[in-house]
Amino acid sequence: MRYTITAALIYANGPIHIGHLAGCYVPSDIYARFLRASGHDVAFVSGTDEHGVPITIRAKKEGLTPQQVVDKYYVQIKKAFEDFGISFDIYSRTSSPIHHQTAQDFFTTLHQKGHFVEETTEQYYDQEAKQFLADRYIVGTCPVCGNPNAYGDQCERCGSTLSPTELKEPLRSMLSGAKPVLKATKNWYLPLDKMQPQIEAYVNAHPEWKTNVAGQCQSWLKDGLKPRAMTRDLEWGIKVPLPDTDGKVLYVWFDAPIGYISMTKEWAAQTGKNWEDYWKNKDTKLVHFIGKDNIVFHCIIFPAMLINEGSFILANNVPANEFMNLEGDKISTSRTWAVWLHEYLEELPNKQDVLRYVLTASAPETKDSEFTWKDFQTRNNSELVGIFGNFVNRAVVLTHKFCEGKVPPAADLQDIDRETLATLAEFPARIGESIAHYRFREALVNLMDLTRLGNKYLADTAPWHAIKENPERVNTIMNVSLQIVATLRIVCEPFMPFTSVKIGQQLGLTAETDAQTWQNAGKADLLPAGHAIGEGFLLFEKIEDATIEKQIQKLQDSKRMNELTTKQIAEQKPETQYDDFAKMDIRIGTITAAENVPKSKKLLKLTVNDGHGERTILSGIAEHFSPEEALNKQVCFLANLAPRKMMGMESQGMILMAEDRDGSLAFVQPSKPVWNGGTVN
Ligand code: 2FM
Ligand code: ZN
Repeated sequence: MRYTITAALIYANGPIHIGHLAGCYVPSDIYARFLRASGHDVAFVSGTDEHGVPITIRAKKEGLTPQQVVDKYYVQIKKAFEDFGISFDIYSRTSSPIHHQTAQDFFTTLHQKGHFVEETTEQYYDQEAKQFLADRYIVGTCPVCGNPNAYGDQCERCGSTLSPTELKEPLRSMLSGAKPVLKATKNWYLPLDKMQPQIEAYVNAHPEWKTNVAGQCQSWLKDGLKPRAMTRDLEWGIKVPLPDTDGKVLYVWFDAPIGYISMTKEWAAQTGKNWEDYWKNKDTKLVHFIGKDNIVFHCIIFPAMLINEGSFILANNVPANEFMNLEGDKISTSRTWAVWLHEYLEELPNKQDVLRYVLTASAPETKDSEFTWKDFQTRNNSELVGIFGNFVNRAVVLTHKFCEGKVPPAADLQDIDRETLATLAEFPARIGESIAHYRFREALVNLMDLTRLGNKYLADTAPWHAIKENPERVNTIMNVSLQIVATLRIVCEPFMPFTSVKIGQQLGLTAETDAQTWQNAGKADLLPAGHAIGEGFLLFEKIEDATIEKQIQKLQDSKRMNELTTKQIAEQKPETQYDDFAKMDIRIGTITAAENVPKSKKLLKLTVNDGHGERTILSGIAEHFSPEEALNKQVCFLANLAPRKMMGMESQGMILMAEDRDGSLAFVQPSKPVWNGGTVN
């Protein structure tokens, strides 16, 4: 069977966290690894979504261009996935030329087939920045909570979803601060309303979809599908392939899912495959792994696009997950309430499989779930160390101790051996069945039951006693135990690929030297008698309380910082008039001398070259900078502040400092050296 498995193209606008892994990437990886081990032909495709407003917003925040933002995060995100063993066949980007071409061709085909409706509507426009404003770029007062800084799509204070027309005056553009005006613009709409019967037929043909997915689809269908613009007035994105469409790009949700197709093309070209086999052959199963916020796009809009195009298969399943919360709160990038993958790896090195295990064990498969560090510790210590690792280690160590490190022959099987082998034989199919039905938590419970079977078998047969009375018997016991370990190695691979490799090493097997497939797993003769196994070592290690407490503390610190920031931002000074602002003469100067002020903890005495000569400024930064650190810094200072006497000296101005959210200070400086005396306007 051939499978095309896609995992959501995450926006390249920030690092990734455990919620992403739990919601989409670990489950899709388990599925892909299982299918490959079962001998299926798999294309597991993903990459970054590099267009749309989320990218431009990030660029503005970081003072970078959108291109710089996506280049930066593509590399980071790709690395994080590699580090966690997500086995994509390709991880590409929607900025690739092949994607631009594929998306434009797709648009052109739909346009030529007459599947778009052109419509002119009035949209908000910024006359100063000379561009139409995405909802997110319009700021006004929230109609729900009165927050004066609510965005046109959402109020971050009360969480309400908004549209720009709901915002209360005065509206302003986030780009220039100007008042947005309504202006007519033409866009191309996908008339989803007309496609309701086809989409309904498609969704209803899949009663096997998960209830959370089916539920969302039915609720959209019940409300009645509405036309949706597939082009936007934006600079950043894929140009609309039609004449006279300057300043218009494809809607990011039009181009992103086409990314799955263009990335498959890219992969096929690299590997000598035919991409159409994976997208146009009715025998291929297409499965989209996503988070719940992407359901409508994958179950309704993308299928509508594919149906209109006419030559593509539709997804067989869209096993979307719900969200994973963290320590009782929603994971939030902006509130920095998250466990970032790159930080996890730095702080808990070589523990990728522990996280994969815990995230699967508490995956938000049908409803939101919760990650807590305590649960992480318990699962590691009692399940992975206490049950899984313990069994494998005992089997390997005892084989070295009693059987010279070789798989001993199994002779004279007793009932307990036969029963154990019979139970072992059932596990691979049972685990596989759960995975095939996207029940990864259940699959993991079965996997742990297999390790429990191994532990119970060792406890019941007690080779450490048998060795004294009946050494022959020990051969059989160790043979059976090692067969369980060998099966475990195969069936744990989708969940914990690094651990599977380690078990392979301990069994003296490598991916290259054996072809152990899911079909062979469970067999009583997986390891032949006489085969030399490798050295034993611990698969997992205990995680101490101190490690967990440190992580919890880190989260709490970040929450405190965030609350602090929110408070600081909330306490804006009252509105001021331009004329008042213009009275301030802010200039550039260079600190040419710096010294501590006797008897003052706070003040540094700075000599500043202001272009005309030198002046003395007393600055309250001594707790943040030593005189050496301040020396030679080019700074901004308020030049016309009335002179003030402090500690018996006259201060002639004020240095401008930026305060970070932890209270630390930074000099406000021009982004390149400029001449002293230059004004700041
Ligand atoms: O929600 C997101 O992060 C989107 N960038 C997901 C896109 S999935 C697909 F359509 F590409
Ligand atoms: Zn609000």
